[in-house]
Amino acid sequence: MDYYLLYFSPTFTTKKVSQMIAETVAKTWTELDITNYGGCGELPNEGRPIGSQPDGLPGSQPLGQPGTPGDTQIDAEPDTQPDSQLGGRPNGQPGDQLPNRPDTQPSLTFGADDVLIIGIPVHSGRVPPLALRTIKTLRGNATPAILLATFGNRHYDDALLELKTTLQAQGFVAIAAAAFATEHSIVPKYGAGRPNAADIREIHEFAKQAGKKLATWEQASHVDLQVEGNPDYRPFQSISMSPHANSHCIKCRTCAKSCPAQAIPLKNPKTRDKKACITCLRCISVCPEKARSLHSYEKLVAQLSLAKQCQGEKPNALFL
Ligand SMILES: Cc1cc2nc3c(=O)[nH]c(=O)nc-3n(C[C@H](O)[C@H](O)[C@H](O)COP(=O)(O)O)c2cc1C
Ligand code: SF4
Ligand code: SF4
Repeated sequence: MDYYLLYFSPTFTTKKVSQMIAETVAKTWTELDITNYGGCGELPNEGRPIGSQPDGLPGSQPLGQPGTPGDTQIDAEPDTQPDSQLGGRPNGQPGDQLPNRPDTQPSLTFGADDVLIIGIPVHSGRVPPLALRTIKTLRGNATPAILLATFGNRHYDDALLELKTTLQAQGFVAIAAAAFATEHSIVPKYGAGRPNAADIREIHEFAKQAGKKLATWEQASHVDLQVEGNPDYRPFQSISMSPHANSHCIKCRTCAKSCPAQAIPLKNPKTRDKKACITCLRCISVCPEKARSLHSYEKLVAQLSLAKQCQGEKPNALFL
């Protein structure tokens, strides 16, 4: 089996948890970061082959097969690619890179012998729309998938169900799914310190169980995994806050290059398009000068509006 780890992770928590799962389930895997797919800046994995060493975040391990890209198809294809072209699985070319064109979406096709591990953060109880746009271009061929969502100690609501339903419609079979509580990326005092030691044990235990299911995959291929969520997904509510740059900004453009929404102009990275911004907070995470932030009154409003719902320590949810 070939293992693929794919995640959307603006502030890197989902990436970290996804990698923990991949480490337990697979010895090697090919890693695809879709956070900035088609963005205006650097390509995901730019400068290194797919499957090479990640960014050195806590908990990261050497990954994949350095220098040997997997054979999953990575093509620059428009969204409208006809179905007849989606079944194949031609070999990847060395140096394959994800397209750097906002008007196209890549097409990734997986086979029955592949395994997809996929992670998203919960935004407004849903799969973040930009992540969903890319996920909708994936194609499986009865490909088993392990699904994971991270959520900031409020709730994951319909995100896992939305992820499962979307992937199943595209030829994947969800064999295991989980939602793990984490620090809330907007108000880190909620879920502070999570995933903690107990969470990490649970993450590895979940991954072990998912691995066991994979081992008997052929027999279990008819499974329809039940995950919690309301099929009438809750309406997505965008947040009207957008990090601004202060006088410490050196115009290095790191934030502009990694913004998933292309909301920060490369020419003038001190500004941002508030309407395009999805409040993912990636620009704050990647700024080397710590020059980007939300206003303190915005943080206070977020803290107060989440206070009731984020109380206590929320349990993780495993579906196996
Ligand atoms: C725009 C936005 C919306 C969010 N909505 C929710 C939510 O509905 N429920 C929740 O528990 N956490 C929510 N969170 C918190 C994130 O799901 C959580 O911090 C996640 O681990 C972030 O993952 P990342 O570090 O990979 O970006 C939200 C965060 C952002 C930025
Ligand atoms: S990453 Fe920070 S310093 Fe660099 S352009 Fe953006 S705000 Fe300015
Ligand atoms: S400008 Fe908005 S969308 Fe872009 S990285 Fe910052 S928070 Fe995310």
